[in-house]
Amino acid sequence: MSANPDEQLAPTPLDPERLARKFPSDFIWGVATSAFQIEGTVPGDGRGDSIWDTFCARPSVILDGSDGREACQHLTRWEADLDLIASLGISNYRFSISWSRVQPEGHGAWNDAGLAFYDRLVDGMLARGIQPHATLYHWDLPEALQQLGGWQSRETVQRFVDYARRMGQLLGDRVATIATHNEPWVVATLGHQQGIFAPGLRDRRAAMQVSHHLLLSHGLSLSALRADGVPAKLGIVLNQAPVHPATALVEDRVKAQLDDGELVRWYMDPLLKGGYPQDVLDHLGADAPDVQSGDLEAIGVPLDFLGINYYTRNIAIADGTYDTRTSGLELTDMGWEVYPAGLTELLMRLQRDYRLPPVYITENGAAYADRFEGGAVQDAARVGYLGSHIQAVATARDAGVDVCGYFAWSLLDNFEWAHGYTKRFGIVHVDYATQARTPKASAFWYRDLLKAFRERKGGIVRRVQNREQP
Ligand code: FCB
Repeated sequence: MSANPDEQLAPTPLDPERLARKFPSDFIWGVATSAFQIEGTVPGDGRGDSIWDTFCARPSVILDGSDGREACQHLTRWEADLDLIASLGISNYRFSISWSRVQPEGHGAWNDAGLAFYDRLVDGMLARGIQPHATLYHWDLPEALQQLGGWQSRETVQRFVDYARRMGQLLGDRVATIATHNEPWVVATLGHQQGIFAPGLRDRRAAMQVSHHLLLSHGLSLSALRADGVPAKLGIVLNQAPVHPATALVEDRVKAQLDDGELVRWYMDPLLKGGYPQDVLDHLGADAPDVQSGDLEAIGVPLDFLGINYYTRNIAIADGTYDTRTSGLELTDMGWEVYPAGLTELLMRLQRDYRLPPVYITENGAAYADRFEGGAVQDAARVGYLGSHIQAVATARDAGVDVCGYFAWSLLDNFEWAHGYTKRFGIVHVDYATQARTPKASAFWYRDLLKAFRERKGGIVRRVQNREQP
């Protein structure tokens, strides 16, 4: 019997060696972060404000009243952070570029100090044997562009293409992948319809127009980067989940179908099937976006990869809100159900309904109320979460889904958007008073998994061939 009652409740960590054998030798393993959540600012760094700076300054929108000015001070601590990634044997790092750091107003002048930061960061990764995976837009639109209409304005699409091309020039021959957008559903729906994320609007018509402009900016930049001869693999990252009806009642099943349309098909269909789903268009009526001729062709350009972020399943309920506490399932500190089977289900469903490019799990992880004790964090629950979700990826691969990589969210505890610093997703603990980094038990478990992966004998060979693009 363990003396610690928490340990008795925690799920059994999966054996790294057994798990490692389930993946082919070219599978890529990484960790992920995003700019606003970790970088912070220093006086004179030249970064322009982003919509998240403006949003954080509003009263009562961030749970602990915090903002991104300090964050993890990655801007000045990046070398030690890269050393940490390397010391854990992690050979892929997904980071995002702060648009307003490299181009403070989102158009016009470039900030040399900002460009130099990402230039050095990428070189720093390569010097340590870490493959860089860049995301161009992880939600931090330059505030100056928001003043001009933000993503509601079609002008912003062209500004994004210009920004993407500049980043392609700067980094495109050194990064392994470039993702245009991270989770456009979140930007559109949480930012413009529910108003709980920047820029904090509550307007469904605006949200749907934003979603279209995000997708259009994705497609046009992919084509521009290809025309510019950028060698990096190009794609987009979507947050996806299976949507389950709360009950067998027909109202809940109808709601689940619609929620699936808004979350999954609204993004997957234009990217991979050439049009928006009709049931969602019908539901939106006059709130459907203006789509100009040629837009859908632009959005549907072939992807080199699709990134999927998965945290939990979604539950649809026609009437009221679903309380995850009634599910009987283990919950994370976000109140999200631990539901690894949903990841396998999602991947198999996407494989069935779409002609998928190679897929990366670009984010997966969990917040827990970690206890820093005796200089260590024993986060057995996070080990269980990561292990069971990595197993869920293996199961999907066995069923024929071409998943080529997995990135744990997140390297560091960081600024968790509207939750401020109250939720800890890191495999590395951050003491915000001292900025000390301490790898948690989950970081050591992940290190052991990757070590076992590198050293394993008789691992399976790659069975799923990359398909031709449609
Ligand atoms: C995702 C975001 C990421 C992080 C995790 C917990 O939606 O992409 O920045 O906040 O959720």
